[in-house]
Amino acid sequence: ARTHRIAVIPGDGIGKETTPEGLRVLDAAARRFGFELKLTEYDWSCETYLKTGKMMPDDGLDQLKDSDSVFLGAVGWPGVPDHTSLWGLLIPIRRGFDQYVSLRPCKLLPGVKTPLANREPHEIDFYVVRENTEGEYSSVGGRMFPGTDREFVSQQSILTRTGTDRIIKYAFELAMTRPRKKVTSATKSNGITFTMPYWDERFAEMAKNYPEVTTDQFHIDILCAHFVQHPDWFDVVVGSNLFGDILSDLGPAVAGSIGVAASANINPEKAFPSMFEPVHGSAPDIAGKWIANPIGQIWSGAMMLEHLGEAQAARAITDSIEKLLAEGGPRTRDLGGQAGTVDVGKAIAEAVSRA
Ligand code: NAD
Ligand code: IPM
Ligand code: MN
Repeated sequence: ARTHRIAVIPGDGIGKETTPEGLRVLDAAARRFGFELKLTEYDWSCETYLKTGKMMPDDGLDQLKDSDSVFLGAVGWPGVPDHTSLWGLLIPIRRGFDQYVSLRPCKLLPGVKTPLANREPHEIDFYVVRENTEGEYSSVGGRMFPGTDREFVSQQSILTRTGTDRIIKYAFELAMTRPRKKVTSATKSNGITFTMPYWDERFAEMAKNYPEVTTDQFHIDILCAHFVQHPDWFDVVVGSNLFGDILSDLGPAVAGSIGVAASANINPEKAFPSMFEPVHGSAPDIAGKWIANPIGQIWSGAMMLEHLGEAQAARAITDSIEKLLAEGGPRTRDLGGQAGTVDVGKAIAEAVSRA
């Protein structure tokens, strides 16, 4: 049988609760569609940090590099500063494996209530394509003259030509596979005078190669407003690391719940493993209660199977999620139900087995 080697990192908080449900559904898909998953689990987390002073071992990336994909829950827990935990585990994987595309679907699923009035599922169905390795998330900068009147902090935002062109190109290529063939660029070239005009310039240049694709661009502030007022305008939205981060929580919120939002951190050249994780974090406020929605994790598993060439199995998972929600199956509290994390995972796994 086809075999895929998966590195599993549940991480912190609800990551420990949603990851097993993701695996339950992946296992059902593997049995149903005749492939094998070889799982290796890593307990890297804030707990590890408190014991060892490290989020992952020094050779962590080496340990992961021979896997076909990484399947991650969430990282971050009170007691460890967020920049320590995230820059100790999640971000080194994204950057070390050159996962420069963060692909985040925003889709109103049938049977899910959007906070927006009178919106139908087909009206909210787009992708956020987020630059995932540079931009505002840079380690260039620092704190000078600490503790004095002259104290200041700075952090450089860096857009390389290669990094900018490749993410914009990915967005255009994705749009070419979709019926509407439209790309929207998130910018802020009115207020940010070096990086964002450059982003606009590279976007316009790339657009020339795709005459079939319709384009537009908005400054990030009004773009946030349009996400709420006109989500039907969007097909593929491309943004820098920070803008893409913000849009990829806003998009799922207008589509009903951050709990269902999936994401893929992709190295399209497949030089390194890609990583699949829900958009949400470790949710300390609900962790331990087993009420977290596992759908974001499960849907991320479907994106992983798609990436691994198991398109039919991926489709069976997304179909099963949609069917469960459309037919009023068990749902967690964020979607107005009473079901627990495990109930939802089991129901989807069951549906996949029968797909
Ligand atoms: P969060 O996504 O963890 O939680 C935000 C809110 O959404 C909370 O009220 C939470 O209960 C709710 N929520 C999130 N996921 C849910 C789910 N599956 N089902 C139901 N409700 C859900 O964001 P935060 O509170 O800003 O961050 C908490 C921690 O997670 C921090 O340490 C942060 O840095 C980290 N974080 C990690 C990732 C990641 O690992 N990729 C992403 C975002 C935040
Ligand atoms: C995400 C998260 C991370 C990010 C944080 C936790 C560093 O918000 O995956 O969207 O900003 O990329
Ligand atoms: Mn985020």
